[in-house]
Amino acid sequence: MILSVPPARALRLGVNIDHVATVRNARGGSYPDPVAAAMLAVAAGADGITAHMREDRRHIRDADLVRLRAELAAPLNMEMAATDEMVAIALDLRPHACCIVPERRAEVTTEGGLDVAGQAVALAPQVRALREAGIRVSLFVDPEPAQIAASAAIGAAVVELHTGAYAEGRAGEYERLRRAAAQADEAGLEVHAGHGLTYDNVGPIAALPQVVELNIGHFLIGQAIFDGLAATIARMRQCMDAARTGID
Ligand code: PXP
Repeated sequence: MILSVPPARALRLGVNIDHVATVRNARGGSYPDPVAAAMLAVAAGADGITAHMREDRRHIRDADLVRLRAELAAPLNMEMAATDEMVAIALDLRPHACCIVPERRAEVTTEGGLDVAGQAVALAPQVRALREAGIRVSLFVDPEPAQIAASAAIGAAVVELHTGAYAEGRAGEYERLRRAAAQADEAGLEVHAGHGLTYDNVGPIAALPQVVELNIGHFLIGQAIFDGLAATIARMRQCMDAARTGID
């Protein structure tokens, strides 16, 4: 008897360009241009571009999103807080996807996942409005069973699993991610992952068979200082593909 092994699902790389805008904003001008970086990233093998417009506009600004939407051929994933302002902007902009993240003004980066289980009543209508506008809605959650179940219950299409604690080396975190990916897939959710991923730690996450997209920002933009953005993205792709196929 020949056992059929299901083919591995393709693994996409979403490049987060927020920190190109961070460098631009440090001098208040228009250089370096995050939209130009997005184009370069796509030419170098990125499958999509992620941009997080924060309430305080500390990196990505409204005009960046408008230009990304108009100029980018690849899918745009708008990261945003679950506020009326951001939902209205997304409904106007119509990006390919929206990833809803928790946001606290004082934080340096997105610390911890969204409490979907605790905020389901407030989130459900926002998810519905975005979904009805044809936008794929992703919820950025910690790998906790209650959060995955709540994400499916309120109608999200995708969960993005927060890999920050794994990247920091917290004991048991990989196992939690492994179980969460399986649970989400079982619940019919598409599974993404991201935060704190680097060449050194991406492999085990890329090897999770249910994960179909990784969103990576800070490391890629930082490493681009040394190797250039195109070479950095190409190397990250190699790390992901090697882990996915088990070939080093
Ligand atoms: N995914 C989400 C939902 C995020 O909020 C972030 C950080 O903006 C990332 C992925 C990328 O994280 P990092 O910049 O650490 O690669």
